Amino acid sequence: MNNSTFTMIKPDATSKGYTGAILDMMVKAGFSIKAMKWIKLSAAQAGEFYAVHKERPFYGELVEFMSSGPIVAAILEKENAVADFRTLIGATNPANAEEGTIRKAYAASIGENAVHGSDSDENAQIEGSFFFSGLERF
Ligand code: CMP
Repeated sequence: MNNSTFTMIKPDATSKGYTGAILDMMVKAGFSIKAMKWIKLSAAQAGEFYAVHKERPFYGELVEFMSSGPIVAAILEKENAVADFRTLIGATNPANAEEGTIRKAYAASIGENAVHGSDSDENAQIEGSFFFSGLERF
């Protein structure tokens, strides 16, 4: 499966009112929405989602931030979804993000970087299944 990816619009972007503009960029870039929810993670849930980063020095900060306010979680579909979506969102650090990317337009810092995008097909499946059951995908 290389036609779907998973994304979150993070608490910095939802709290600044960027949700609609970011979704618009995703749809205009050719991604269609397979599943979507507006949800606030507990610290435990954010910690579980980002467990792969547990040993990183920024893990505590990341978990606190990702549970600090509502997010939009979504599964997006497009041919070559994972790679094309990472191009659309831009570099993790917005200081390095290219013009025209979501992070260039809306991210504040490496920690508060507006959006998440899966880094592999395997993680896209794992991350999508963290948030959505089969009944919630259309
Ligand atoms: P994301 O793509 O959601 O996956 C892991 C997240 O960790 C990443 O985006 C960043 O928001 C965050 N992150 C990565 N490096 C740092 C860092 N040096 N300091 C704080 N947060 C970071």
